[in-house]
Amino acid sequence: MLADVQSVGYDLFAPEMTANPYPLYQKMRQADPVYYSETLGYWILTRYADVEAALWDERLSADRRSLFIQQLGNLDASLIQNFLQLTGNMMIEQDPPDHTRFRKLANQGFTTKALESWRSIIQQITNYLLDQACVRDSMDIVADLSVPLPALVIAEIFGVPAEHQANLIQWASDIGTFWGAPGGQNIEALARKADTGAAQFTALIRQLIEERRHNPGTDMISLLTLAYEQQGFDLDLLPSLCILILNAGHLTTTDLIPNGVNALLNHPDQLQLLQANPALLPSAIEEMIRFDTPAPFLFRIAKQDVNVGGHEIPTGSVIALGLGPANHDPAKFANPEQFDICRSPNEHLGFGPGVHFCLGAVLARMELNICFQMLLKRMPNLHFDPDHVAIPRQTNLVFKGFDTLPVKFQG
Ligand code: HEM
Repeated sequence: MLADVQSVGYDLFAPEMTANPYPLYQKMRQADPVYYSETLGYWILTRYADVEAALWDERLSADRRSLFIQQLGNLDASLIQNFLQLTGNMMIEQDPPDHTRFRKLANQGFTTKALESWRSIIQQITNYLLDQACVRDSMDIVADLSVPLPALVIAEIFGVPAEHQANLIQWASDIGTFWGAPGGQNIEALARKADTGAAQFTALIRQLIEERRHNPGTDMISLLTLAYEQQGFDLDLLPSLCILILNAGHLTTTDLIPNGVNALLNHPDQLQLLQANPALLPSAIEEMIRFDTPAPFLFRIAKQDVNVGGHEIPTGSVIALGLGPANHDPAKFANPEQFDICRSPNEHLGFGPGVHFCLGAVLARMELNICFQMLLKRMPNLHFDPDHVAIPRQTNLVFKGFDTLPVKFQG
């Protein structure tokens, strides 16, 4: 085994990592690109080539149950039984051929026609949220925009009634925090919250599936219920697919919006360039995803011994694939620490290539384009609020965003 992460200074959960993890990622990539952390109990890959290859490697499984059990330390696995049942049935944790069956079915919900029908929903919700903010001269990008926007959009697509939408955000966050490898802090409390969230979220989705079976609409739950029944899939497994899409559909987008606003406000030349050339927005969004990747790590489990960069990784090992670190690898990106909205090509790994390539990438891009287009148009004088500090958040390895990002847009 190699030396401990902390003993050589690689503490992925050190307080300074929350503000800026990229210097440490650079150190790791240069000195220990394939690293075993005794403290965390897993391997960490930080080079673009290794991470990309691992995402396509069939010898690595997406079934992360052993990570979750490992995270519990001495606690009993029964503490997270609802969580394990819910997430274990999610296609994001399955390998082909099971994954292929679920993915084919889920793809049917994301047709070009469906995506186009969601455009006006996104526009309406964004406008509504910005209207609310515009009556003041300041807003919190997180509380006022990035938390409600993707959550309301995905809730609308699924037809989740308004009275459950606040719960949906809380459950997603509780499940996502434990799912995202939170380090060792308060693990029992996090596990309990994740398990309660999983049980309550599953109960609600089961109830909605039952209702839509008898009274179908045009929402995603109705469409997936019908498809499951027609194709002979077990309806008991449908809550896992719905909750996967509901959670994945907003947690990452919620983080990308403040990460992107923060990058733009920290690089006024790039903000001005974008304001003068709105056609650069799609390319600016790709750069936001690369520059401050909202899902900086993904996990895989070795199904057999694998050799990565000369290191023997034994069967059963947990491997953290550093999408964020890989997106700053100078072997792939010229001047990786530079935020360049014109970067081309920009083959970032932010949507995780491979069989699990983000199902919602097209929706996410549409949502982000509409959000930034409206934000910059309606608030051309956007700047950091000098009276309130931004608080970045990375309490787990999979989700990186902000707790709060106060801005002003007048005066
Ligand atoms: C900026 C926004 C987003 C980012 C950065 C992002 C990133 C990712 C990544 C990295 C993965 C791969 C996970 C893995 O291999 O373990 C993934 C998978 C997935 N994403 Fe996204 N995502 C975003 C938005 C969305 C949206 C809006 C939706 C749906 C409405 C969505 C649904 C999914 C689903 C269902 C999967 C699992 C796919 C599978 O297992 O085949 N994502 N996403």
